[in-house]
Amino acid sequence: MKQEHRHHIRARTNLLIDIAAFIAFLIATAPRFSGIAIHEWLSVAFAVAIIVHMLLHWQWIIALSKTMLRKARTQVRLGYILNLALFIDVTLLTFTGLMISQVALPLFGIRPAPSSLWRGLHSLTSNLGVLMVGLHLALHWQWTLKTTARLFGFRMPKSATQQEVS
Ligand code: HEM
Repeated sequence: MKQEHRHHIRARTNLLIDIAAFIAFLIATAPRFSGIAIHEWLSVAFAVAIIVHMLLHWQWIIALSKTMLRKARTQVRLGYILNLALFIDVTLLTFTGLMISQVALPLFGIRPAPSSLWRGLHSLTSNLGVLMVGLHLALHWQWTLKTTARLFGFRMPKSATQQEVS
């Protein structure tokens, strides 16, 4: 019972961080809507949330990495490759964002030289990110549905509760 309770709290923490990161990502994709200062600080907070998100799912990442070295189903392999690609994309997105920073880095006296290369890469990794975040959400949809239902006390139809390792 105690372990079940711990599992419940953990899943809830994961879900709340995921929701916050998802909303921050959506706002970050529209810098002209939010203004540049909010864009930059929210994106930095998003990068921190992603690190926490990965630490909370660390056991899952290690277990799946081991499986990948042995035999894994094609669907599992594709999911793993997508998650890896998304991680690389978000890292590049944050890095290129910092390289064209107008607010966050100048606050610390660092003023990167304006560069159309970083700007172009920032725009490209942002567009790829939108696509991959959508696929990432679709890939983990069962977990998201189940945890949301548990958190808000909804009843789920049997067909929507297939197992997912998370
Ligand atoms: C979740 C992460 C991020 C996303 C989704 C994102 C998305 C975008 C998008 C879509 C643009 C407009 C690109 C264009 O007009 O072609 C942009 C511009 C920009 N971003 Fe980001 N970005 C992120 C992170 C960051 C970070 C961490 C920083 C700096 C700390 C940053 C700084 C900037 C700056 C300075 C611009 C140029 C704004 C302008 O000239 O109007 N971004 N970003």
